[in-house]
Amino acid sequence: MIIGSNLLFFKNLPSTNTHTATLLKKNRLQEGSIIYTNYQSAGRGYYNNIWESEDGKNLLISIILFPSFLNPEDQFQISMAISLGICDFLIRYIPDCSIKWPNDIYVNNDKIAGILIESSVSGSKIDSTIAGIGLNINQEKFLSNAPNPVSLSMLTGKSYDLLSCLNQLSTDLDKRYKQLIAGNSGQIKQEYVLKLFRLNKWCQFRDSKEIFTGKILNTGEFGRIIIEKSGGEINEYSFKEIEFIL
Ligand code: BTN
Repeated sequence: MIIGSNLLFFKNLPSTNTHTATLLKKNRLQEGSIIYTNYQSAGRGYYNNIWESEDGKNLLISIILFPSFLNPEDQFQISMAISLGICDFLIRYIPDCSIKWPNDIYVNNDKIAGILIESSVSGSKIDSTIAGIGLNINQEKFLSNAPNPVSLSMLTGKSYDLLSCLNQLSTDLDKRYKQLIAGNSGQIKQEYVLKLFRLNKWCQFRDSKEIFTGKILNTGEFGRIIIEKSGGEINEYSFKEIEFIL
């Protein structure tokens, strides 16, 4: 086992990703170590968003990886593997989930998990990657203005033991990471695309110019998303160049 081989618990932290980066500056911790906490006072998401999570209710974890087998331009493979690992965990409890590109985990139209991947690159190699995951398990009410949070408990009416969930999730993530190490990134990409939220469905997007109707066809180089506009034009977008209208 790589992911989950070493678990480091902290009662509370500003952010597991920030703390992991600090730890990594001091020591090269074992690959697959998981830093986790009950509460983050400054949990971070993309676009400087905050990540809301009630004390002791959800999984808040950061995983240390040293994916030296990847070139920096291929690091989206980590995002895909982590997203699929979370889906593998969830489908034990609920009928289906999807991945809202690039890496939000959705159940129907609601967000159950967010992923924040931060890599440090030295020269032409990835030195280390911190894969942060916030997975909503037992929280029943969300207070921030995040549009559509949901938890496993809200979906099933049950509550879950967090440590068992962490162990199961680590096993699922470990399998996906090992698929990457074994060179099966093609398989990962294929499964990732099939799980994309609104794949092949006409829906509304916003790019820098307009709101338009389009459908997701695939992902391209560097994890960019390929969308066909209703007029037939096909474009590739990077993260931040396109937004779903929910
Ligand atoms: C997003 O959806 O914008 C990403 C959210 C990522 C949240 C997790 S919680 C654990 C880890 N530590 C952080 O500060 N953020 C990530």
